[in-house]
Amino acid sequence: MTDADRRDRLAEFAGGQRHIQQAPLFLAWLADMRRLRALGEERGIALEGPDYLEMQLVSMVDAALAAQNAAVAAESMGLGTVYIGGMRNHPEKVAAELGLPANVFCVFGMCVGWPDLAAGEDVKPRLPQSVVLHREQYEGTPDTATVAAYDLRLREFQTEQGMIPADWSAQSVQRVEKLPALMGRHRMREAMANLGFILK
Ligand SMILES: Cc1cc2nc3c(=O)[nH]c(=O)nc-3n(C[C@H](O)[C@H](O)[C@H](O)COP(=O)(O)O)c2cc1C
Repeated sequence: MTDADRRDRLAEFAGGQRHIQQAPLFLAWLADMRRLRALGEERGIALEGPDYLEMQLVSMVDAALAAQNAAVAAESMGLGTVYIGGMRNHPEKVAAELGLPANVFCVFGMCVGWPDLAAGEDVKPRLPQSVVLHREQYEGTPDTATVAAYDLRLREFQTEQGMIPADWSAQSVQRVEKLPALMGRHRMREAMANLGFILK
């Protein structure tokens, strides 16, 4: 969407994220169970499947796959993207703003724009492959030394980028330590019920 007033409101719902207002394009990625239900209704067939959590998982995975393909395509054209999980801070307000019918949920948003090359951005270092790739069976959580090494690597990167350095591990824990850190998303089950999802 490109409507400035709408993006102002969405930015507000997402906790005042200015890039939602500033980016030339903002995309909202939807888990759309309405489309499937409509097919059943047209045919007079009562659908049992769509009320199950499994179907919501599939629709959200679909949205994420489509979005990531769009992100890769955008980047191949020199554009930049920012995923916006903040769309889930106030799911009902976002649904009303986007005119979503029951059984359609905005999983996340995405800002699309031209990166400021002068800003000197770089790719954030990732956790080492040994942590995220398990061979044959789950190989356990990373040991203290591996986490400490990644914390250090990320601090170096943040310093290079002019950011305030902070340990990845401490930040990760902080993000889930207290409910306020979830920015309203602790009521996701209730919000989804309000949007017509049964989640059996
Ligand atoms: C699912 C998801 C949701 C995100 N939500 C937000 C958000 O609401 N606001 C934001 O500024 N960045 C958001 N981000 C972006 C991250 O905070 C971070 O800037 C980005 O992943 C860093 O990109 P990099 O890891 O490629 O450097 C989100 C990223 C993902 C994957």
